[in-house]
Amino acid sequence: MTDDNHVILQNETTKTSCELPVLSGTIGPDVIDIRTLSQKTGMFTYDPGFTSTASCSSTITYIDGDQGVLLYRGYPIEQLAEKCDFLEVCYLLLKSELPTGREMQGFVKEVTYHTMVHDQLTNFYKGFRRDAHPMATIVAVVGALSAFYHHELDIRCPIDRNLSAIRLIAKMPTIVAMSHRYSTGMPFMYPQNRLGYVENFMHMMHATPCEDYVQNPVLVRAMDRIMILHADHEQNASTSTVRLAGSSGANPYACITSGIACLWGAAHGGANEAVLRMLEEIGDKSKIGEFIKRAKDKNDPFRLMGFGHRVYKNHDPRAKLMRNTCHEVLTELGLHDDPLFELALELERIALEDDYFIEKKLYPNVDFYSGIVMRALGIPTVMFTAIFAMARSVGWIAHWDEMISDKEQKIGRPRQLYKGPAKRDVIAISGR
Ligand code: ACO
Repeated sequence: MTDDNHVILQNETTKTSCELPVLSGTIGPDVIDIRTLSQKTGMFTYDPGFTSTASCSSTITYIDGDQGVLLYRGYPIEQLAEKCDFLEVCYLLLKSELPTGREMQGFVKEVTYHTMVHDQLTNFYKGFRRDAHPMATIVAVVGALSAFYHHELDIRCPIDRNLSAIRLIAKMPTIVAMSHRYSTGMPFMYPQNRLGYVENFMHMMHATPCEDYVQNPVLVRAMDRIMILHADHEQNASTSTVRLAGSSGANPYACITSGIACLWGAAHGGANEAVLRMLEEIGDKSKIGEFIKRAKDKNDPFRLMGFGHRVYKNHDPRAKLMRNTCHEVLTELGLHDDPLFELALELERIALEDDYFIEKKLYPNVDFYSGIVMRALGIPTVMFTAIFAMARSVGWIAHWDEMISDKEQKIGRPRQLYKGPAKRDVIAISGR
């Protein structure tokens, strides 16, 4: 490296060199701008899993994985979780600034107006088996929104993009709750616009047409916090998927669906479901040692779910907030001696003292505790990733909007290191 603003790349074989600019963000590491690399050298970079690649520039979320810092538009997640509700955070992510009281009133009104789904959309659910995984039905139904909102949508128009974002945020709780109700054979509940965003979701999940559903403010606040903590996380796998799908100019709901599909995997959003299943499988504190041993065994595919993160190598700031929320909820419900929670605490303690986890910098991530909170809120395990998708929708659509309005935006088209056969001739089947 020569100075602050460029690097020299030296090829020892050809004895040639090339100069590449270095770009600086507001905070965080500098990046080498390799856009001219292939033109200058005829070579590409090789980075499976994008461990050293910044795929875009963004002003939405900042993470410092070594320090355990997470900022939405510059605001620390701890402060947002304490002082704001989820819809304020949505406003912030979409519009760059926190709303004034008046702006918030207008935003709530706008979101509330769009909470219902087209009645025709309810027919989609009926095509699924009752035991279909809710993520499968949500992938399909959110994708189907593109059939309802396509012709009058011009993605180059900021007003249309904003309306797409509002519709998505407004309808996700309705769609997610409907997936749950369908799988349990319960009637769909219409949204109640007199209720707050999270209260409305809890109502659609748990109420019945036969009797009143009484909300507990501590539980509503816990769900709101889950939503805030999952709202965005810069260029994670699902967000990058949404950006890549959107880079071709596809319908936003189709792009969001690709993000939901990506989130479903156990290495990403499926982890909260996997954590609970793992805790149930461990079953008893006496078995922890056996499972820790398996997690460390290279020949065993088992991993300690809810541990480790691609970016956080110190602690996940969301995990601490979720741990506190877990305490609040279990105390409120008189479940502070919940055996699964005690098992989780003990597993965390043992793993954090284990050399393997210390050396590899594996700490509990947000999903280690979110599953226990959701279980206490009466959310079935199979719905955990769907709740994550509902919360992350705002992040996905904020990134989609940012990408479409970016002057440097191009269709995403990575290259490859080809290792297949070199050119060869086809022999007709009779001669093979
Ligand atoms: N249990 C045991 N070992 C682990 C774990 C784990 N949970 N996580 C990572 N390791 C080990 C790996 O085997 C690897 O060991 P090696 O260096 O000897 O090969 C090393 O730690 C580094 O792990 P990678 O898989 O290379 O790290 P990567 O950044 O690719 O993966 C991931 C991160 C996917 C989150 C991983 O830690 C994991 O699978 N964790 C469990 C699933 C999980 O909790 N996912 C939720 C992520 S957070 C979210 O999406 C909200």
